[in-house]
Amino acid sequence: MLTETEWFADNQANWNDRARTHMSGNYYGVNELITNPESISAELAQDIHRFGNLNGKSVIHLQCHLGTDTIGFARRGAKRVVGLDLSDTSLEFAKDIAAKSGVTVEFVHSNVYDARENVEGSFDLVYTSLGVLCWLPDIEKWAETIVSLMAPGGCFFIRDDHPMFMTIGDDVSNGLKIEQSYFQLDQPLTWEDETSYILDDNAPKIKAKRNHQWNHSIGEIITALIRAGLTIDSVEETPYSAWCPWPELMVKEGHVYRLKDAPERLPLQFVICAHK
Ligand SMILES: C[S@@+](CC[C@H](N)C(=O)[O-])C[C@H]1O[C@@H](n2cnc3c(N)ncnc32)[C@H](O)[C@@H]1O
Repeated sequence: MLTETEWFADNQANWNDRARTHMSGNYYGVNELITNPESISAELAQDIHRFGNLNGKSVIHLQCHLGTDTIGFARRGAKRVVGLDLSDTSLEFAKDIAAKSGVTVEFVHSNVYDARENVEGSFDLVYTSLGVLCWLPDIEKWAETIVSLMAPGGCFFIRDDHPMFMTIGDDVSNGLKIEQSYFQLDQPLTWEDETSYILDDNAPKIKAKRNHQWNHSIGEIITALIRAGLTIDSVEETPYSAWCPWPELMVKEGHVYRLKDAPERLPLQFVICAHK
């Protein structure tokens, strides 16, 4: 059995390789961010209205990857913007993209669980989005970290893959089948993947293939946030996903994907807004 330190070391190496893979094309819309000083990522654009006037506000983006959403907060007026991630390679790309986009963002190399020790100050908005909770073993400790970073009256926002979506197995040739646990387990699911979710056959293959993931039920996530001291303002579930694990079963609509047939069968994302 691996230790927690080994889980995170494997995931860091895996995400360093994924960052190179993700930068090989324009999957994250980096070209648009650099060339159009008004632009923000499509992922952030769908939610930016929720945060009101950001002028003078402080924002921390946890698990910021290439910093594409992070840049958008600086572009929409936030006075202090911090992006934090476990992958040092992701952050090297993020710093370069932010510099070329002409925005000032602080990037911090840290495990989410160590964010409070590694970042000074508190934040009006803690934001985390799309592909985040599956990399974290302990949801209660995560929720406590979120609250420790928030200023009084501050807001928390998460949009992520729905845990029910994450229970479905890869082989959908005979339809959708529940194969993985819906609830948080003590041990991770360990995968060996040489590709990422970007659906680009020409992208470089991942060498550090081993990665460890966890699922957390909606009840576990909401309860952890409440126990950590937050007031939940809304919980939404959507039939849309940011990525396409089953090309034969899904259609693209704008920048998101949904099931071709009866999309109301399965929630693919959830959104939680909360405040302190
Ligand atoms: C799917 S990406 C998030 C992408 C984000 N939605 C975006 O648009 O840029 C997941 C990120 O989580 C980071 N990550 C994984 N485990 C982490 C941890 N324990 N602490 C901090 N970051 C972590 C990875 O390095 C990766 O950059």
